[in-house]
Amino acid sequence: MHYFQYKDGRLYCEEVLVEDIARQVGTPFYLYSHRTLVRHFRAFDSAFSELPHLICYSAKANSNLAVLKTFINLGGGVDVVSAGELFRALRAGADPSKIVYSGVGKREDEIRYALLEGILMLNVESYQEFHLINGIAGKLGIKAPISFRVNPDIDPQTHPYIATGIRQAKFGIDIEQALRWYREAKELPHLEIRGVSCHIGSQLTELGPFVEAMKRVKELALKLRNEGMGVEYVDLGGGLGITYHQEEPPHPQEYALAIIGEGKDLPCTYIFEPGRVIVGNAGILVTRVLYTKEGEKNFVVVDGAMNDLVRPTLYGAYQGIVSVTEKGGDEMVADMVGPICESGDFLAQDRLMARFEPGDLVAVMSAGAYGFSMSSNYNSRPRVPEVLVKDGEFFVIRERESYEDLIRGEMIPPI
Ligand code: LLP
Repeated sequence: MHYFQYKDGRLYCEEVLVEDIARQVGTPFYLYSHRTLVRHFRAFDSAFSELPHLICYSAKANSNLAVLKTFINLGGGVDVVSAGELFRALRAGADPSKIVYSGVGKREDEIRYALLEGILMLNVESYQEFHLINGIAGKLGIKAPISFRVNPDIDPQTHPYIATGIRQAKFGIDIEQALRWYREAKELPHLEIRGVSCHIGSQLTELGPFVEAMKRVKELALKLRNEGMGVEYVDLGGGLGITYHQEEPPHPQEYALAIIGEGKDLPCTYIFEPGRVIVGNAGILVTRVLYTKEGEKNFVVVDGAMNDLVRPTLYGAYQGIVSVTEKGGDEMVADMVGPICESGDFLAQDRLMARFEPGDLVAVMSAGAYGFSMSSNYNSRPRVPEVLVKDGEFFVIRERESYEDLIRGEMIPPI
């Protein structure tokens, strides 16, 4: 459920006409609905009301300060995977004691930064990492709060690039070896074990893999308890999928019921790290048609491209394509492509879409997650603005980059 709707054939975001925003900020741009963000966060949060829990929104999905702040205001914490994301979370006003930090390759300076800020816990992903953390904490004269991110070896039945909890993935530590590592960590003087964490993948559309992961994590947590190790937190990561096209993912409430069923006899605080399910359908990319080419294959060339939204190119992902002003009847099968010099630059392929003409505005749907956050300057294209609508008002929450921004920090040496 989102708040992008047609009234009299024209697309609105909440009470604001999308074409009015386009006129004022130019195209392309990302557009988010505040009401949708809040609704999705609350739906997820309230589904778990029976369990002590903390929602650490996964910043990687959309890390704009205004988006982070929206969830912080609702009591959310943040899941970060780099010092840069930690910096953003803190800048947005996140409570450090609600920040968790995962990542298979944390650098020493990143670990030190997180420890100095007093985050809730570092989710450790390798043997060397927890020894390094112990050493850094020792030098700082503190105890580092950690959990181990375990890899439960479960196939989440999603795109291979975003399946993280199978043995072949680089993530986490083998759950079979976890007990040994916990015992070793327990003996280290500068570590404080807070719990267990796990994240098996993204865009999951079935409950089975989540439940299986929960069972395996619970089994481990009970063993740890038996050995006198604190399991204050069980972090189950993110991963709940959304509808891009015809997927029918479980509702957060169904997901919660399944987890609560397994979790109620393991008293602790449950952490969730949802990203996509909160922001995915709360955002669109608005782009304008530049040219059309009709022939054996039809192309609609727009001003948005793979550097702005890479998901179709990278994962073969489906993003809905709709006209900002509804166009009657006539449709065609075409590729929607951008101006980038690669044949892989497309937003949609062989798609039945409205018969677009130059000047038309197009909304690329479900672009709120992993849209702007994965965008780049490829082909020296300035990154596009981000706009947030709340009720009848809109706010530019990130300016369009300028040409000067493109070369910021570059230098020609005196040679
Ligand atoms: N926690 C951890 C440790 C993660 O690695 C991820 C996502 C999440 C939470 C949030 O997962 P979500 O709830 O959003 O599924 N760029 C890809 C998705 C990459 C997901 C990476 N990890 C895409 O556009 O589909």
